[in-house]
Amino acid sequence: MTHLLHLDKLSAGYGAIQALHGVNLSLNPSGRLALIGRNGVGKTTLLKAVMGLADVKAGRVYFDGQDITLWSPRERARAGLGYVPQTRDIFPSLTVEENLVTGLKGRPRSALDEAYALFPRLAERRQNGGQQLSGGEQQMLSVARTLLGKPRLLLLDEPLEGLAPIICIELMRAFEHLAQETGVAVLLVEQKVDDALRFAPRAVVLERGEVVLESDSEALGQRSDLLERYVGVAGAH
Ligand SMILES: Nc1ncnc2c1ncn2[C@@H]1O[C@H](COP(=O)(O)OP(=O)(O)OP(=O)(O)O)[C@@H](O)[C@H]1O
Ligand SMILES: [Mg+2]
Repeated sequence: MTHLLHLDKLSAGYGAIQALHGVNLSLNPSGRLALIGRNGVGKTTLLKAVMGLADVKAGRVYFDGQDITLWSPRERARAGLGYVPQTRDIFPSLTVEENLVTGLKGRPRSALDEAYALFPRLAERRQNGGQQLSGGEQQMLSVARTLLGKPRLLLLDEPLEGLAPIICIELMRAFEHLAQETGVAVLLVEQKVDDALRFAPRAVVLERGEVVLESDSEALGQRSDLLERYVGVAGAH
């Protein structure tokens, strides 16, 4: 089977700064992979490099068998990559519905119902301004907007960061439902390691821009020594 995403000895960064060093990683169609590691190890940079938003110094990025290393972010989005950045990029001055419309990418307006079905909170707040939303609702909006473009691979950068436990549960349920129903592949960066390992059967650990461990998630969840060393938490599995 052709990998949906394959990183081949990828080194990337920003100008003279190199933040990723020779990363190999692959993900099958409809696969799920957790990417974990401490602050500043290069998790966001890896997602940005996949999306064409970081400078690739060496190595290649393949999506669905094609070498996309030199493609623009727009071309990658059109090919089926969906990126939900750590910063929750919504338009604060637009309403929920107007934000969602910007994600339609030529699809009919009726497609908005998909977003509202996944996140009923957004349906209730469709005329609210983006800046009136709670952090969790902003995250839902950011995810929903990306999903409207019907990606084949969803790149999620710490979607649970700073959110209340009840909202985290709601979001993880939505990701689970989405992955099962649509078959979208998911690369999940998350420091809430228990949630990440429960969601994805495989996990990759980054440290100082390098992959230091790739493991079955269940096995990793039981290794509190490794989790303590690489992520700074003793897993509660
Ligand atoms: N725009 C940028 N310009 C220059 N250096 C950057 C930039 N963004 C990140 N870096 C550096 O690259 C390295 C990796 O950062 P990155 O944001 O990928 O880490 P991260 O694992 O996502 O961290 P966090 O868990 O805090 O989100 C860090 O040393 C960081 O300082
Ligand atoms: Mg980050």
